[in-house]
Amino acid sequence: MLSSLRTGVQGLWRISSRSIQTTASRQHDSLFVHRDTPEDNPSIPFEFSQANQKRVEALLAIYPEGHKRGAMIPLLDLAQRQSGGWLPISAMHKVAEILNLPKMRVYEVATFYTMFIRRPIGKYHVQVCTTTPCWLRGSDAILNAIKQETNCEVGGNSPCGKFSVSEVECLGACVNAPMIQVNDDYYEDLSVEDTKEIISKLKKDEKPKPGPRSGRFASEPLGGLTSLTEEPTGPGFGVQDALKA
Ligand code: FES
Repeated sequence: MLSSLRTGVQGLWRISSRSIQTTASRQHDSLFVHRDTPEDNPSIPFEFSQANQKRVEALLAIYPEGHKRGAMIPLLDLAQRQSGGWLPISAMHKVAEILNLPKMRVYEVATFYTMFIRRPIGKYHVQVCTTTPCWLRGSDAILNAIKQETNCEVGGNSPCGKFSVSEVECLGACVNAPMIQVNDDYYEDLSVEDTKEIISKLKKDEKPKPGPRSGRFASEPLGGLTSLTEEPTGPGFGVQDALKA
């Protein structure tokens, strides 16, 4: 009895003394905790512009009575666009007021989705995908080139105020890796040279052509079609003779 108790205690000791290993936690560059600053505090008024007010009404009309909160993400997006690409706390409060919701419900959404930016950013928000497919195709080199060309660190703004750089998870264009997003546009199949050219055009406020840089139209195979290459068969193909008219 005593010996089995001792064995049990020793077993417990063995279990409790096992070390727990974890991977290093990585922090997103977006701000998830609000701190009042001169440019972002609740005393700065926010109203939708007249044109956006019409959009707000059109968006609300999509959702039936009792489900208006479904318009929260489109409204926050509209507020962010009106505010120069980032979302001030007053704009979040305005959305809560329009939807008749506690402010917390809006904070929950605005801090969950990384598409909502909680700090003033530059004219061009360069988001670099560094998830596995893009990483395997050289996203580290793309990110370094962007940091070098914009003189901007991840999560910061360039000294000229024109660029902000973010490192993001998969943007859903893995077939065209590596890729970046600048404001609303995707630039895909990038090389370091392509990236430098894109940044230099943006510096001059010229708009680089969005899309793949490899010469392909979208995400079709680089070496041409590999399937569905024969002429499509016509109506009645494969139908047994007895069933043909
Ligand atoms: S991994 Fe980069 S777009 Fe999906």
